[in-house]
Amino acid sequence: MTKVAIIGTGPCGLSMLRAFEQAEKKGEKIPEVICFEKQEDWGGLWNYSWRTGSDQYGDPVPNSMYRYLWSNGPKECLEFADYSFDEHFGKPIPSFPPREVLYNYIIGRVSKGNLKDKIKFNTKVTNVFYNSDKFEVSYQNKTNGEISKDNFDYVVVSTGHFSVPFIPQYKGMDSFPGRIMHSHDFRDAEEFRDKNVIVLGSSYSAEDVALQCNKYGAKSVTIGYRHNPMGFKWPKGMKEVYYLDRLEGKKAIFKDKTEQEADVIILCTGYLHHFPFLDENLSLRTGNRLYPPKLYKGVVWQDNHKLIYLGMQDQFHTFNMFDCQAWYARDVIMGKIQIPNDSEIEKDISKWVSMEEKLENPDQMIDFQTEYTKELHEMSNYPKIDFELIRKHFKEWEHHKVEDILTYRNKAFSSPVTGSVAPVHHTPWASAMDDSMKTFLNK
Ligand SMILES: Cc1cc2nc3c(=O)[nH]c(=O)nc-3n(C[C@H](O)[C@H](O)[C@H](O)COP(=O)(O)OP(=O)(O)OC[C@H]3O[C@@H](n4cnc5c(N)ncnc54)[C@H](O)[C@@H]3O)c2cc1C
Ligand SMILES: NC(=O)c1ccc[n+]([C@@H]2O[C@H](COP(=O)([O-])OP(=O)(O)OC[C@H]3O[C@@H](n4cnc5c(N)ncnc54)[C@H](OP(=O)(O)O)[C@@H]3O)[C@@H](O)[C@H]2O)c1
Repeated sequence: MTKVAIIGTGPCGLSMLRAFEQAEKKGEKIPEVICFEKQEDWGGLWNYSWRTGSDQYGDPVPNSMYRYLWSNGPKECLEFADYSFDEHFGKPIPSFPPREVLYNYIIGRVSKGNLKDKIKFNTKVTNVFYNSDKFEVSYQNKTNGEISKDNFDYVVVSTGHFSVPFIPQYKGMDSFPGRIMHSHDFRDAEEFRDKNVIVLGSSYSAEDVALQCNKYGAKSVTIGYRHNPMGFKWPKGMKEVYYLDRLEGKKAIFKDKTEQEADVIILCTGYLHHFPFLDENLSLRTGNRLYPPKLYKGVVWQDNHKLIYLGMQDQFHTFNMFDCQAWYARDVIMGKIQIPNDSEIEKDISKWVSMEEKLENPDQMIDFQTEYTKELHEMSNYPKIDFELIRKHFKEWEHHKVEDILTYRNKAFSSPVTGSVAPVHHTPWASAMDDSMKTFLNK
């Protein structure tokens, strides 16, 4: 019997488990699946942890999410085709839920069956080698340190790529008298009330961490971008300036000559794709981009078609794209989809990579990832979902952000699965200080 290892039970690993479960429900004979998760529970980044640094076993904490984190895109754009928000919550809910609500939704889909039986929790995969047609997987039980080995026909890497921070160095950091941290370790904006905060970066973490600090009472927030400013209309107390040059004592000096007193520097400088458990010739090397090279259909490792990567792309689309990837991967593993010859693979990867390299603005990037996801969707029996509506929603959302970065989360969108329209949330995001599920759902 074919044997499959799934590494990680964040949204991608759970999509993979769900894909097999759905095939089994239809009476198909599925492979033997063993899933490894180094945390004590499933959900990946959505399974919030207060911890930073190492966990109780000395293992780096993968969590990068923080208190008061809300969805940064409309929930309708990530909705599962086989499990709508209406089905889970029993009624339409607003479009931008806080983390706890999305976590509840992700977990709701997989909790009904016996999928947990397939998962070894608190178990970290430490080594993967390919040897005479099999993968040898070594894993460690973190609670007792015991190391075991097993052989598999396929390995699915769903370990995420927003857990290992990229930490650059700037002149003067050594002698800066305040705190220097990465957004990976950011947990609660309340900590920075009345402080002068410097945020470095110009992507989603920089945007949201800066806004959180402003919302929860920072004295000032100065964002230093490197290449392109985000350019939003920032609220009072916030500004965006060009590239940090150096720190001199408590002073941050930027290349556009701005000088700002600083209590804390938050590096929102992104993450590394990091696979210390994979043999070198199996390891994906890429930055955070929409089409990492060497992945056929964004999923199958070019040099070994029995190695599958899920969710390694930079992400507009998330949960339903992960599902399309998982359903496709399942059908490859179960022999329902044939992988073409090497030159076809090379041609297909080059086509997508060269299109990606020409993308110039968010609308084009949304189109690119929508086309990619649609192509995958057509290759499996993943249920019907309106990707054209999702494309339209993403573009509208981008424009809402440009109109007003403080109000875009107050908007309402329609479901690509059920067609129902979300209600407007009872409290505008900028004044909603309590992000609990109870308050959000008005229970
Ligand atoms: C701060 C932040 C906010 C975000 N907000 C949103 C949002 O609002 N909306 C959205 O759609 N997306 C958001 N994302 C994107 C997020 O990456 C995806 O939603 C999703 O979590 C990706 O799922 P994943 O399964 O690929 O990875 P993860 O969620 O990272 O899960 C990977 C899992 O693999 C496990 N693992 C790793 N290594 C090993 C190993 N060696 N052995 C065993 N297990 C291992 C980890 O413990 C983890 O459980 C956000 C990301 C970040 C960092
Ligand atoms: N729900 C939410 O509200 C929320 C909040 C935070 C994050 N997220 C998600 O988290 C994921 C990761 O986002 P991210 O912003 O952490 O990573 P990211 O999108 O990969 O962006 C990394 C940023 O770091 C900057 N950078 C890298 N090196 C730098 C340096 N030396 N100096 C200054 N800037 C530097 C890059 O700037 P250049 O462009 O100049 O290279 C880029 O702006 C995304 O999927 C996002 O959606 C969601």
